[in-house]
Amino acid sequence: HSEEEQTEDYLFKIVLIGDSAVGKSNLLARFARNEFYPNSKSTIGVEFQTQKINIEGKEVKAQIWDTAGQERFRAVTSAYYRGAVGALLVYDISRRQTFESIGRWLNELHTHSDMNVVTVLVGNKSDLKDAREVTTDDGKTLAEAQGLFFMETSALDSSNVALAFQTVVTEIY
Ligand code: GTP
Ligand code: MG
Repeated sequence: HSEEEQTEDYLFKIVLIGDSAVGKSNLLARFARNEFYPNSKSTIGVEFQTQKINIEGKEVKAQIWDTAGQERFRAVTSAYYRGAVGALLVYDISRRQTFESIGRWLNELHTHSDMNVVTVLVGNKSDLKDAREVTTDDGKTLAEAQGLFFMETSALDSSNVALAFQTVVTEIY
C-alpha cells in the first residue's frame, strides 16, 4: 500500500442521535465548519458531512450522519444506522426530558446496528449553567451503567466538541 491508498482504508460512519433540539446539527456544524446557528431549524431527512481526522499521525475520514430527533421528520431508520461504527448519543443538560429519552435511543441504536458500535453519551449545552437540569454525575453514572464514553459539550462555546468526535473515531480505530 502506498501512503495515498492508506487514507482510503479508513472511512468511518458515525451517527448523531437524540431528541429534537438537543443540538446535534450544531455539534456537527461546529465540528465540520466551526459554525454555530443560534436559530437553527429542525433537520428534515438526513444530512451528512465527511471530515478528516488525524489519529496517531494517520488521516481518517469520518462520515458523520445527522437526522431529525422527531419521528415525523426522519428518513428510513434502518438506512440511517446501516454500516455505522460509531454514535454520538446526545441530550441537552438543560432539559431533563432529553436525558430520560436516552434509553429509548440506545434501544433503537442496538436494534438497527452492530452491538459493538462505539458510543459516546454527550450532554450538550454545557454553557447553560443556570438552566442545568441534569448533573454531570447523572451523565457519568448512566454512561458507566451502559458502557458508554461520556462527555459534556457546548456547540455554542465549542467546549469538548472536537474531543467528542475525536474520541469516537479514536476508539473505533
Ligand atoms: P433536530 O434536528 O430537530 O433533531 O434538532 P438538533 O438536535 O439538530 O438541534 P439543533 O442543532 O438544531 O439545535 C437546537 C437549538 O439549540 C438551536 O436553537 C441551537 O442554536 C441551540 N443549541 C445547540 N447547541 C447548543 C449549545 O451548545 N448551547 C446552547 N446554548 N444552545 C445550543
Ligand atoms: Mg438537527
